[in-house]
Amino acid sequence: MSIAITNIGSLVTNDQSLGSGILGEISNASLVIENGKIAWVGKTNDVPNTDQQIDVVGKAVIPGFVDSHAHLLFAGERSKEFQARMKGEKYSAGGIKSTVAATREATNEALEQNMLRLVGEMQKSGITTFETKSGYGLTTEDETRALQIAAKHTTETTFLGAHVVPSEYVGKEDKYVELVTGEMLDSVFPYAKWIDVFCDQGAFDVDQARQILQAGIDKGLLPRIHANQLTQGGGVRLAVELDCASADHCTYLSDKDIELLAGSNTVATLVPGAEFSTRATYPNAARLFDAGVNVAIATDCNPGSSYTTSMPFCIALAIREMGFTPEQALWSATMGGAKALRRTDVGAVVVGQSADLVVLNAPSYLHLGYRPGVDLVSEVFKSGKSIYQEKK
Ligand code: NIG
Ligand code: FE
Repeated sequence: MSIAITNIGSLVTNDQSLGSGILGEISNASLVIENGKIAWVGKTNDVPNTDQQIDVVGKAVIPGFVDSHAHLLFAGERSKEFQARMKGEKYSAGGIKSTVAATREATNEALEQNMLRLVGEMQKSGITTFETKSGYGLTTEDETRALQIAAKHTTETTFLGAHVVPSEYVGKEDKYVELVTGEMLDSVFPYAKWIDVFCDQGAFDVDQARQILQAGIDKGLLPRIHANQLTQGGGVRLAVELDCASADHCTYLSDKDIELLAGSNTVATLVPGAEFSTRATYPNAARLFDAGVNVAIATDCNPGSSYTTSMPFCIALAIREMGFTPEQALWSATMGGAKALRRTDVGAVVVGQSADLVVLNAPSYLHLGYRPGVDLVSEVFKSGKSIYQEKK
């Protein structure tokens, strides 16, 4: 069965050989989907015959967003912390522990329902691929069940047993690292693809982070890291040393960090929702682009520092507060996210890729930043199937 989407006012392909600019934009475009994949892309005048046609009457179509960083396995919420921060209190890694307590109390069903609620929100915002981490259980049993639930709904599952040292291990940090790299890793391994560490003040230092990531790598997990969120520490340097797919947050970067990222395969994943919600200083993405670093934008959806599932909101913030151009922001939320997950089958609208698409109620992707806070998503396709349609 072949389906054509026709009369696309502006199609973003992310392939410069297909259209103009870094987004490979084509005006008056159409595309064909076959077996869940993109089978043809071009001008509407040239569209081949298909079994079914969907006329989008001049709307823009963009690749589905790829959210490479989220924490969806948790219970409870922390709006009081947000309130305190907006009155001047500083964000610290310590708040994670209150979510850990609520998560340990929750049933599997409650955790899964909460995750699915957030995934539904993500889809409505145009996210078609998402990663999620564990990290609010911090016992072997609780980390394992989180990843078991996650693995039912995404292939991009990340073991974050090293989120913070849980209260029962304070003063015995080495014992906790031993647990994470031993029994816990063995138990979660069948359900995890990635291993992550929060390497920062109040969490794990560079030596502990290296030990933890290396243990995961030795087992066959792929490394990624929370780095340089709170301080200009050694997280980014470690990311490059271990060929992490991504160094996430990158709020505080030295010139040396940027030089190292530019010479590496590590993507710098920026999470504007976290700076927004913690009142932190936004990093300047222009420094990264000027140096030639690959950049991703992710939601970092979590109940502490960034409780948003909206990629359009993150794009608007990135443009307005982080020095992204609108085209750099869209590229980073699609291709950038795909690169941060080392995926080559999503993130672009080119022949052979998964037909993951967002139809916008707008003539161009520019409206994502130009109309902040407005829900512009008309329909979302994942592997050629409609997974969300706006209510008419
Ligand atoms: O990515 N930085 C570490 N982890 C989360 C915050 C988690 C929390 O505060 O609950 C983040 O911002
Ligand atoms: Fe995070």
